[in-house]
Amino acid sequence: MACRTLIIGTAVAMAVFCLTGCGGGAGTGSADATAGSGDTGGGSPDAAPQADVAQADESPGAKFYEQWGCAVCHGKDQGGNRFGPTLRGLAPHWTADDMASYLLKPQSFHDRNDRMREIAKKYNTMVMPPYDHPHADRLELATWILSLEE
Ligand code: HEC
Repeated sequence: MACRTLIIGTAVAMAVFCLTGCGGGAGTGSADATAGSGDTGGGSPDAAPQADVAQADESPGAKFYEQWGCAVCHGKDQGGNRFGPTLRGLAPHWTADDMASYLLKPQSFHDRNDRMREIAKKYNTMVMPPYDHPHADRLELATWILSLEE
């Protein structure tokens, strides 16, 4: 008998604890959930991993850089690697519009000036692929690249 009372007592104590504890929690919890579903509402199952990658910089340009595979040849930090030159500190050499066109047809820019001729020669075993994406997206990416400092 005593034992059963103890069990019931404990159950009641837990229920009361939960009512107060969970009651308060539910308030904040549901506020979080609303904010969260707002964020994730825009198609998030596949956006989630990208958000991880682009943690430091979530601008559209940074996302295109990841998604279009630029990092393979220009590095995760855009500092270049043995497949491609650095993309940092390019602001003096390009307008965003020119760079957007370059992304569409890299080869057509190899004779643009001495600097490009040299870069193309230096990486002559590697080809910068053409990116046939909408101009607005290339422009977004180019603008972001031009904001990168050395
Ligand atoms: C397969 C390797 C490769 C990939 C992938 C690649 N690039 Fe390149 N990139 C190069 C090479 C090699 C050059 C050197 C010049 C050339 O070949 O046109 C270059 C040159 C450039 C330049 C000119 C650099 C300068 O000094 O003016 C820019 C800008 C550039 N890439 C941007 C990008 C962007 C943005 C992407 C992704 C959309 C990308 N690249 C993807 C290999 C690559």
